Amino acid sequence: MGSSIFGHKLILSSFFLFIFLLGAVHGSKKCYIVYLGAHSHGPSPTSLDLQIATHSHHNLLASIFSSEEKAKEAIIYSYNRHINGFAALLEEEEAADIAKNPNVVSVFLSKQHKLHTTRSWEFLGVHKNGKNSAWQKGRFGENAIIANIDTGVWPESESFSDEGFGPVPSKWRGANVCQINKLPGSRKIPCNRKLIGARFFNKAFEAYNGQLDPLLHTARDFVGHGTHTLSTAAGNFVEGASVFAVGNGTAKGGSPRARVAAYKVCWSLTDSANCYGADVLAAIDQAIDDGVDIINLSAGGSHVVTPEGIFTDEVSIGAFHAIARNILLVASAGNDGPTPGSVVNVAPWVFTIAASTIDRDFTSTLTIANGNNNQQTTGASLFVNLPPNQAFSLILATDAKLSNATFRDAQLCRRGTLDPRKVHGKIVSCVREGKIKSVGEGQEALSAGAKGMILDNQQQSGNTLLAEPHVLSTVNRPKKHGKTKPGLSDLTATDSISLGSTIKMSPARTLFGREPAPIMASFSSRGPNKIQPSILKPDVTAPGVNILAAYSLFASASNLITDTRRGFPFNVLQGTSMSSPHVAGIAGLLKTLHPNWSPAAIKSAIMTTATTRDNTNKPIKDAFDKIRATPFAYGSGHVQPDLAIDPGLVYDLSLADYLNFLCASGYDQQLISTLNFNRIFICSGSYKVTDLNYPSITLPNLGLKSVTISRTVTNVGPSSTYIANITHVVGYNITVVPNSLSFKKIGEKKTFQVIVQARSVTKRGTYQFGELRWTDGKHIVKSPITVRRK
Ligand SMILES: *[C@@H]1O[C@H](CO)[C@@H](O)[C@H](O)[C@H]1NC(C)=O
Ligand SMILES: *[C@@H]1O[C@H](CO)[C@@H](O)[C@H](O)[C@H]1NC(C)=O
Ligand SMILES: *[C@@H]1O[C@H](CO)[C@@H](O)[C@H](O)[C@H]1NC(C)=O
Repeated sequence: MGSSIFGHKLILSSFFLFIFLLGAVHGSKKCYIVYLGAHSHGPSPTSLDLQIATHSHHNLLASIFSSEEKAKEAIIYSYNRHINGFAALLEEEEAADIAKNPNVVSVFLSKQHKLHTTRSWEFLGVHKNGKNSAWQKGRFGENAIIANIDTGVWPESESFSDEGFGPVPSKWRGANVCQINKLPGSRKIPCNRKLIGARFFNKAFEAYNGQLDPLLHTARDFVGHGTHTLSTAAGNFVEGASVFAVGNGTAKGGSPRARVAAYKVCWSLTDSANCYGADVLAAIDQAIDDGVDIINLSAGGSHVVTPEGIFTDEVSIGAFHAIARNILLVASAGNDGPTPGSVVNVAPWVFTIAASTIDRDFTSTLTIANGNNNQQTTGASLFVNLPPNQAFSLILATDAKLSNATFRDAQLCRRGTLDPRKVHGKIVSCVREGKIKSVGEGQEALSAGAKGMILDNQQQSGNTLLAEPHVLSTVNRPKKHGKTKPGLSDLTATDSISLGSTIKMSPARTLFGREPAPIMASFSSRGPNKIQPSILKPDVTAPGVNILAAYSLFASASNLITDTRRGFPFNVLQGTSMSSPHVAGIAGLLKTLHPNWSPAAIKSAIMTTATTRDNTNKPIKDAFDKIRATPFAYGSGHVQPDLAIDPGLVYDLSLADYLNFLCASGYDQQLISTLNFNRIFICSGSYKVTDLNYPSITLPNLGLKSVTISRTVTNVGPSSTYIANITHVVGYNITVVPNSLSFKKIGEKKTFQVIVQARSVTKRGTYQFGELRWTDGKHIVKSPITVRRK
């Protein structure tokens, strides 16, 4: 399919995507970000403002270089619009020198970030024709502009057709910038009234990797990830969407009538995409300037704790400037679960999204025979291209190991570990290594001549089953319970397979109405929040397992270089990257319905209406250990858009609240004034970090003295009286004062206190969970409570 849509030249150059014109670069210099806070110019800088800002960056750098010329050369980005700072190629000592300048907030290495549907919207309870559904009420998000910072976009996807769309909203300031090459032979301009802008940012990428072929200087998506996520947030309704004949249904995004803009910052080097922080920051600065309402960001921040904390993280800095301009930034929690403390993007002004399952499975049945013993199991599969009644010999990867490979490498079917003489024509059984991606194992099996592959989860993946676009027929099975073989530690026991076993794989099929769902995905990153322990992260969970959405026609199904299967309008992908655009889509609906709500109010509405129960009305489980999940996995719970549009009360926040929070976190007055657009900000002396008006309550360091925290709710519903209710939290006395609040009009605010005291018998060092509910009989406004005695 590829050659029919691309001219020869583009095909060739894309094929050599991995070859650069320049070699590796700049000796020992590295890309540093010098962060200076906010600009003193206003929200709509003039071109003179921009010049002055850039000039000040040159000046600052010239102070440590011999000349302004050298300074100019070193700077790859001057962030001159909303974020104040620059990215420059510097020696380590030069970076250290600049950090001494009193106007500099932080200097840090530009980090390299990894990129971390049909059914999912029905599962969230949103229906096209439901009168009270979030879609109807939120007018399908028609007034929202959603930005996607990712691998770009495949603009010709039906998900981004502008049929039936009116003029571009006047708030859009990114007019007519569409940095996408047209397809050869196509007359269609890639951007339209739906996809209203597209830009790419590659200076940091090129500084490290050498220049890309200029033909690749485009926001076109060659990977598929950005197209997938953007269509999940705001793709049109597209009927008959499926991949490998499973998942057939109507694909759509959360805000199907919203406008979208793509900012490409992630570039493909090998089998995965790389996104450089300096490029991400440039994209955020531009998106703020373009006038978007919601920014969705797939690339992860860092969870490395540094003394400077949140101001050495590009996502956190970018999101701060976005929120200061009334833009909500939604980002993924990361795919490093189930390890505690693995959650990223943890600043309180970021909306951080975990991943969980939906009630649809792509599944295949395995019949394993050994002598007279027949055993049937099911697993996840996107396709099986084998005759259903044919039995194949089954071989354990470790029994097919090449002599130069280690036992463990062979077990994980790593490259060059399987002996073709042993594997040829058989189905090979491997242990899954990747948390969200294991297509490489399939490649090894295929290269060795296997007909199919069974992938068994190890401990870390628990019961999260992924239907991935493998290069051969593959079924993913859960971790085995019970004994593991000695020496295999966390690896599953695969003892059901012995010499002479045969196996049949049934064709993959789609099952709906699976119970229980949602289940927290094992890979979804977990709290506690290592940088700001008093802010619960992640904030909520949304569908991120086996998600079908639009894809790049150029990308291979598996994203492997060796995979020649291209031309898929849709594909199934995994990860918190897939869950965060669901929330970006819901935010688009709320923005359309409530144009004057702040980003914090929209976030609060989605958080306080989330559920902690699954579709069997039991507490949401964790796929990792099959037991009850906690707020460290799902935050406030699973999003419920139909309730989020009418939350009753919201916990609102303004820039001043965040600044007071920073004061209480120990940041100095000068930094905080810098962030306040260079206007002096006087910290409120009595403010504690736990007082931030967040929709969840977290007290990680309680002594025996009682602690009082304060929250303020704003009425966004009819006049009503709300009563507080707290679930019993073992080992703690928790009271709410007052426990009844009456509201007469919209916008009215009421403050209350929550008083928490640990009992002297309470165990130290362990977290306990509970819930605060305000209810007026119609609305339930919920906040998770997380407490720990230190
Ligand atoms: C998907 O469903 C539609 C309508 O239900 C049907 O017309 C179409 O053939 C199906 N496609 C596949 C690939 O099953
Ligand atoms: C949204 O953000 C997630 C995670 O941060 C990312 O993986 C995804 O690609 C983004 N999608 C959109 C529509 O911005
Ligand atoms: C083992 O040797 C084979 C054949 O020479 C080679 O293809 C393979 O890559 C080697 N494997 C490892 C793990 O070194």
